[in-house]
Amino acid sequence: MSENTTPRLAIISGCTSGIGFATALGLARLGWHVVGIARSPSRGQRMTEVVRAQSGNPHVSFHAADLSLVRETQAIGRRLRALYPQVDLLINNAGGIFTKRTETAEGFETTFALNHLGYQTLTGELIPALAAAPAARIVNVASAAHHGAILQLDDLQAMQGRYHGWRQYQHTKLMNVLFTRALAARLPATMQTYGLHPGFVATQFGSSAAAPWRWLLRAMMLVALRPADAARGVLTVALHAPPALSGSYYDRGRLATPSPEAQRDDLAEALWQQTEALIAQVI
Ligand SMILES: NC(=O)c1ccc[n+]([C@@H]2O[C@H](COP(=O)([O-])OP(=O)(O)OC[C@H]3O[C@@H](n4cnc5c(N)ncnc54)[C@H](OP(=O)(O)O)[C@@H]3O)[C@@H](O)[C@H]2O)c1
Repeated sequence: MSENTTPRLAIISGCTSGIGFATALGLARLGWHVVGIARSPSRGQRMTEVVRAQSGNPHVSFHAADLSLVRETQAIGRRLRALYPQVDLLINNAGGIFTKRTETAEGFETTFALNHLGYQTLTGELIPALAAAPAARIVNVASAAHHGAILQLDDLQAMQGRYHGWRQYQHTKLMNVLFTRALAARLPATMQTYGLHPGFVATQFGSSAAAPWRWLLRAMMLVALRPADAARGVLTVALHAPPALSGSYYDRGRLATPSPEAQRDDLAEALWQQTEALIAQVI
């Protein structure tokens, strides 16, 4: 993909702050038509205004949806597909950490629902629009936090034992890398997918976590990357990763080796199948 045959269209989830916002701004500055998704209409409005003003690109829009809900994710996916029958880039980025175990209105553990089900559901809905582009990419924002995580296929939603927010976050980020792998095996030659770690970045990440965690994250973020630096890595992968490396994992814009667990095709496939079954239950 070169970056000067505009306008091409990118959909970015979690566009109202942090890495998603900075990536939206980066793409708008390159002349892309940017379509963002997040929950808050007021933050979305602000995102469109600021990105338009700072990029000089009027082709920036926002759609509100709670991507932790499968039905809502399917609905926004269908709506975007109808509005934009050709999509060149999807960046699955909306994610978070939850220090207490909660469930969504659909009964899924919230970290799992937002960080993993949201990625697979939105991607599934947008595949026809991505397939309509001459060349399309799907970038999944995962995390180096996946290192050390071991997935229990019979406990994807952290029901067994004591809930530990960081551990469940790690599990869902491992799922992002495995999802990328299983997705790559299913895509036609015109489409590629990549997983990535954006770096440790000063964002709103963890801002709704319980007090000791929130303070710790805030303190650590004093030495973290700026979102604009992280976005450069995201854009390097989105625009320049070689097609032959579809399915692979990048760390701050460079090809990297994910954990041994993240390289297991059997696990990637089993996770894909279980996830599809869970999504189908909701329909
Ligand atoms: N920050 C880091 O150091 C770091 C490191 C590795 C990986 N990551 C990954 O980077 C991604 C982005 O995180 P960030 O650090 O940029 O965090 P952030 O500043 O908290 O941004 C999260 C974005 O997701 C949106 N969002 C949250 N819940 C949502 C929901 N239920 N439905 C739709 N949108 C939702 C938020 O907007 P609304 O609140 O308006 O919905 C916001 O735009 C995540 O996947 C995270 O796991 C971050």
